Amino acid sequence: MLIKNIKSLVQVEEQPRNKVCGADMNHLNTLENSWLLIEEGVISDFGSMNNMPKGEYGAVIDASGRFVLPSFCDSHTHLVYAGSREQEFIDKLNGLSYQEIARRGGGILHSMEKLAQTSEEELFEQSVCRAKEIIASGTGAVEIKSGYGPDLKSELNMLRVAKRIGRETPLEVKTTFLGAHAVPKTYSDRKEAYVQALIHTYIPEVADQGLADYIDVFCEEGFFSVDDTDRILNAGIKYGLRPKVHANQLSFSGGVQVGVKHNAISVDHLESTDTKEFKVLKNTETMPVALPGASFFLNMHYAPVKKMIDYGLPVALASNYNPGSCPSGDMKFILSLACIKMKLNTKQAINAATLNGAYAMGLSRSHGSIAKGKIANLFITQAIPSLDFIPYAFNAQIIDTIILKGKIIS
Ligand code: NIG
Repeated sequence: MLIKNIKSLVQVEEQPRNKVCGADMNHLNTLENSWLLIEEGVISDFGSMNNMPKGEYGAVIDASGRFVLPSFCDSHTHLVYAGSREQEFIDKLNGLSYQEIARRGGGILHSMEKLAQTSEEELFEQSVCRAKEIIASGTGAVEIKSGYGPDLKSELNMLRVAKRIGRETPLEVKTTFLGAHAVPKTYSDRKEAYVQALIHTYIPEVADQGLADYIDVFCEEGFFSVDDTDRILNAGIKYGLRPKVHANQLSFSGGVQVGVKHNAISVDHLESTDTKEFKVLKNTETMPVALPGASFFLNMHYAPVKKMIDYGLPVALASNYNPGSCPSGDMKFILSLACIKMKLNTKQAINAATLNGAYAMGLSRSHGSIAKGKIANLFITQAIPSLDFIPYAFNAQIIDTIILKGKIIS
C-alpha cells in the first residue's frame, strides 16, 4: 500500500530511539510532502514526493492536505470491566471523595461485585466494544490490566478476555496482572492473608498460564503499602513479570521509590510527586506515565509533567480507561488535557502518547513512530490546518483513515 502526497508525516525516525527524554520531547521529526510504503503489515519505506518510487501497488491513498501520525500507544488501561459506576459519579458530584467511596465498599470493590455476576463471554462482549471505541479514536496498542476479579478465577477470566481482545481485534495488547488493586471483600480485615495468596497462589497461576506480561500494585494508603508492594513485585519478578506501579496517585506514597527499586518499566499516575521523586527517576529505565483523564474526572490536581520534562525526564501519557476514575479511552482528549491542564506543547504531548507510551509497554522497537521495519499502525487525519489543531479542537473528529497492522480498518 502506498500513501502519497502526505502533507506531513509525523514522528518519523531514521534512527529509531526507544524513548524521548527532557528537552528532546520538544522535537518531533516530520517529513513534509511525502510518501509512505507499507508491505506485509510493516512500514517498508518513506520519502519525499520528489523521489517517489514508481511501481504497481495493491492500494494507493492520496493524503493531500492531510497528516499521517503513528497510532497512539495507550500504556495504562483497565478496559476489561463489567457494567459502569455512574451512581458513584453522582455521589462524587454530591461531595464524596474517591477514597470515601472506596471506604464504603464502593469503587473497585463495586466493580468486583459486578464482575462476579458477569460471565466471561459477556465480559468479553462488553470489553471488546470499548476496544473498538479506542481503535476508532486512534489507538493501535494498549495495555490492559486485571484487578476487578474478587477471586483467582475471575482474575484469570479478565486476563483471558484481555488476551482475546488482542487476538480478535487489530489492537496490539499487553496484559498486566493487578491482583493488588483492592483487597477483595472475602479478605476484608485480612489484607496480609490476601497478599500471601497473591504471592503464593495467584502470581504462580497467572504466570503458569502465560496470561500476563507485567505485574502491577496500587501502592496507596488504604490499598497496598510500600512493604506489600515490595513483596508482591518481588514475587512477580521471580515469575518473569516486570513491574509497573500505580504510584503517588492520592498521596506521596513511596510508590515511585519502590517501583524504581525493582526496575519497573513504568510508574503511573504521579499526581503527588516532586523533586524527590524526580531524582529517584532520573537516569533509570522506568518511564513516568501521567494519566490526566483521572485528574479531570476526579477533579484533582494533575501530575507535574512539565517540571519532570524540565528536569530531563521522559514522560508518557495514557488514558487509564476504567469505570471509576476515567470512563474514557480517548487519547486525543488526553492530548488536549495534557496541553490545556498540564501545559505541555503539542510536540511533547505527541511524543508522550506515541513513542514513550510504546516504551511503557515494551513496544518501542515495533510501535510508536514511523520507522522502517515497524508495524504499520497509523492514522491519516482529515484536512486540518496544523498539528496544533489536534489538541486545540479538543472535541473534533480529526481522523479520516485508520491503518493497523498494515490494513485499512476504517
Ligand atoms: O488507575 N487507582 C486505581 N485504579 C484506577 C481506578 C480504578 C477504579 O476506580 O475502578 C486508576 O485510577
